[in-house]
Formats: sequence, structure tokens, C-alpha cells
Amino acid sequence: MLAEIYDVEHDQIDEDLPFYREMSRRHPGAAIDLGCGSGRLFEPLLGGGATRIVGIDGSPSLVKRAEMRIAAHESLSTAMTEGRIELAVGDVRRVRRSDRFPLAILAGVVAHLEGPEDALRALLAARRLLARDGVLVIDTLGPGGLPPHDLPLSVDWERSDDGRRIVRRSRLERREAPEGLRVSYATLTDVVRPDGTIARLPASFRLWYPSPAVLVALAAEAELAVESVFGSHDLEPLDEDSERCIVVARPTATDPVTG
Ligand SMILES: C[S@@+](CC[C@H](N)C(=O)[O-])C[C@H]1O[C@@H](n2cnc3c(N)ncnc32)[C@H](O)[C@@H]1O
Repeated sequence: MLAEIYDVEHDQIDEDLPFYREMSRRHPGAAIDLGCGSGRLFEPLLGGGATRIVGIDGSPSLVKRAEMRIAAHESLSTAMTEGRIELAVGDVRRVRRSDRFPLAILAGVVAHLEGPEDALRALLAARRLLARDGVLVIDTLGPGGLPPHDLPLSVDWERSDDGRRIVRRSRLERREAPEGLRVSYATLTDVVRPDGTIARLPASFRLWYPSPAVLVALAAEAELAVESVFGSHDLEPLDEDSERCIVVARPTATDPVTG
């Protein structure tokens, strides 16, 4: 049920879709969406001209939701039937494939990793997947998008979906660390069904938001040359108020894997 609610929450986010359509247009060929969730980015990638999409996610329930999304969209299901979309359950820190991609994406994923060591593993794995002139997009929250203080249990959002009323509450505790901001979340999601019964889904998780400097340093350690750093999906420069931190990087010229 949490995977279902994930879609209710995340499908509201669409401001980044034109950016990914444009990235796919600028880097024609196959795209790999690392930590693809329920495949929110597949349509813009296909719309931008991606000839093939590979989606990898660590959550089997979200990969299942991605299959459902594909089945419900004509262009996506045609692409799937033609063998142009591939889905797999996998760990972005350990993905190994023989094919190479002009475009690899880590959108909203780094925050879910344990910290710099795990992020470095993910960046190294992503770099190995890149074609010689391929780019990796690392998309995470920017300094202006981070929670400024701890929050007591409060309502995040309420939505109606399929006759049900969904109320999400959360509480957060933040801790500044040298590698960025660490945030512990406890969420309580109530699904109020039409007959008045309530399913209450508690969850807790920790997120890590690397500072832009740490992210750029990790990219360099993974032998990725940073091409641009944007503060929004409209390609504004990154500053202290930027809600996003989007790093676009290429394998360094001397990379022995991609030649
Ligand atoms: C906030 S969601 C973003 C989903 C998608 N990229 C998007 O932008 O809609 C983060 C996703 O990363 C996945 N994830 C987190 N850690 C992972 C790992 N180590 N390997 C694979 N997937 C992971 C989660 O399962 C989740 O689907």
C-alpha cells in the first residue's frame, strides 16, 4: 500500500519532466534510470526520443508499479512490447551491465543512500554504464530545498484518491554533518476508506542530503568530470537558495572503462 501511496505523492511532481525530456533529446540513444521508482521519468525520456529505457530500482513493489504505469500508457506499453523498455530490481551501488548508455540518471536517489561511501559506489557503478560521450545526471535537493529546522508531527498533505482520503503526517529531526544534512523522518499515513475504516501505515527512514561541494568531490573521486551544476530544472545557476542541486557529469577522458 505504501508503494501505491508513493505514486499518489510522487506523480504530483512534474516540474522536472521537461528537463528530462530535453536531456533525452540532447543525448540520443538509450537511457538508464537508476532508482527509477515507479517509472515517473519514462514518458519524458521516451518523448525526448530515447530509443531504449532501462529502469532499475531496489524496491520490487515500485518496479511492479512501474510495470502498471507502462501497461496504462499507450506509448510506454508499445515501447515495452517492442523490447525498448527493460525493468529490473537491482541495487544502484552494484549495477553491472555489458551495454553502455549516452544518458544515465540518478534522480532523488543519493539521499536514500547511507552516506558518501555508498554514494561513491553508486557513482562508480553509474560511470561504468556510460558510453564514451555519455552523461550522468545526479539530481538532488539543493541548499534552499532542505528542511530549515526540526518539525514536530504535522500534516504534510491530504489528498483524495479513488474514493479514499489520504492524510500524510510526518515528524523530522535534522543534524548538520560535514558531509551534508542528515534527516530522520517518521511518517504516519492514514488511508480513510469510503466505509470509514482507516489503514494506518507508519514508516521511518533516514535521508542524507550531500552538500553540493561534497557531491562534486564524490563525482571527481568517481572519475567523473563535472560539466554543469544547476540549481533548478530550468537550468538556473546553483546558489544558496536553490531548491535543487543537479550535477551533470561525464567520464573523464582517461577513464579506462569507457576508453
Ligand atoms: C525519491 S525516489 C525517486 C524515484 C525516481 N527516480 C523519480 O525521480 O521519480 C528514490 C528511489 O530510489 C530507490 N533506491 C534507493 N536506494 C536504492 C538502491 N540502493 N538501489 C536501487 N534503488 C534505490 C528507491 O526505491 C526509490 O524508488
